[in-house]
Amino acid sequence: MEQRALGGSDLRVSALGLGCWPLGGGDGWGAVDEQQAVATIHAALDHGINFFDTAEGYNAGRSEEVVGKALADRRDRALIATKVSPSHTTPQALRESLENSLRRLQTDYVDLYQVHWPMPPENVDGAIEVLEEMVASGKVRTLGVSNHGVQQLDQVVWTGAPIASNQLCYSLLARAIECELGPACQKYGISIIAYMALMQGLLAGVYSSPDEVPEFRARTRHFHHSRGARHGQEGHEELTFQTIAAVRGIADDLGMPMATLSLAWVMAQKGVATVLVGSRKPEQLLRNLEAAEVVLSSETLRALDEASRPLRDAMGPSIDLWQGGERRRSF
Ligand SMILES: NC(=O)c1ccc[n+]([C@@H]2O[C@H](COP(=O)([O-])OP(=O)(O)OC[C@H]3O[C@@H](n4cnc5c(N)ncnc54)[C@H](OP(=O)(O)O)[C@@H]3O)[C@@H](O)[C@H]2O)c1
Repeated sequence: MEQRALGGSDLRVSALGLGCWPLGGGDGWGAVDEQQAVATIHAALDHGINFFDTAEGYNAGRSEEVVGKALADRRDRALIATKVSPSHTTPQALRESLENSLRRLQTDYVDLYQVHWPMPPENVDGAIEVLEEMVASGKVRTLGVSNHGVQQLDQVVWTGAPIASNQLCYSLLARAIECELGPACQKYGISIIAYMALMQGLLAGVYSSPDEVPEFRARTRHFHHSRGARHGQEGHEELTFQTIAAVRGIADDLGMPMATLSLAWVMAQKGVATVLVGSRKPEQLLRNLEAAEVVLSSETLRALDEASRPLRDAMGPSIDLWQGGERRRSF
């Protein structure tokens, strides 16, 4: 599989990475068969994926434990990325978080340590100092952020810390980063790690109407707030499903699964180093891996742009998919 540079770091990440959130179960994903989760991670490694993304917050560390178990005897073949929660960004909490993550991951270093959501502004300078100490000690190889908007990225970059990546939601149903943030990342030489490229199954064609989408996967601003969401907005359900139908039409014309096409589209976008895909079964992962072989023609890219542009315009420039208006967390 193609490998790409991650920002200015010395990491070279596979163009498709494994998102390990669903592998830890809980959080609305339901029960997970640990053997199957471990087999999925091994299948990824055996088929050229070297990048595995998890977080201390995924099912209270359970996802990190599964990743640790699966990679314990293959550590040198894998790049492990994990994340610290913004509520743990005081110096002491940050140090404890890293130690806890290392223990659960059964390793003495992480390849990429990311701040999961923007920290309280008053924590930034102190946290960056500690993060840089972690790099100097060898416990962390590279620093990254996640869900940071332009202003928050500026604040972190201006500390002078070498930030390699910003992990962001990016898919045919969530293109907000194209407005300002993508260009800002490029200006700073920061790579994009794209997450939820399949919108948790929506772009794999799993659901044929908004009502079929389970509540946990219907909390984004695409859906009406009555679906258990925190954003308080009306949503764009009709337009979302029109967009999915249009993408499906293009995939059918190409004779390609919609999931493959959707992943290949994100992989082809400017500034994207790797696209995370969550897959809970080896068979599902292997199907998704076909995206790594696809080269989309300019005609197909144009058709996908046109199909997803009305939703992009309706959703607006905010990159926080779960909270709206004044309560959004990314600026
Ligand atoms: N930084 C952040 O704030 C943030 C937020 C969200 C995610 N992430 C990262 O990004 C990764 C990916 O996001 P995600 O796992 O939430 O979403 P995703 O990759 O869009 O979707 C994963 C789910 O989609 C379904 N799926 C995958 N391939 C499929 C296929 N070919 N056909 C049918 N269904 C398919 C599976 O659901 P079933 O298991 O039900 O089959 C799978 O669990 C996460 O694992 C995590 O590492 C980061």
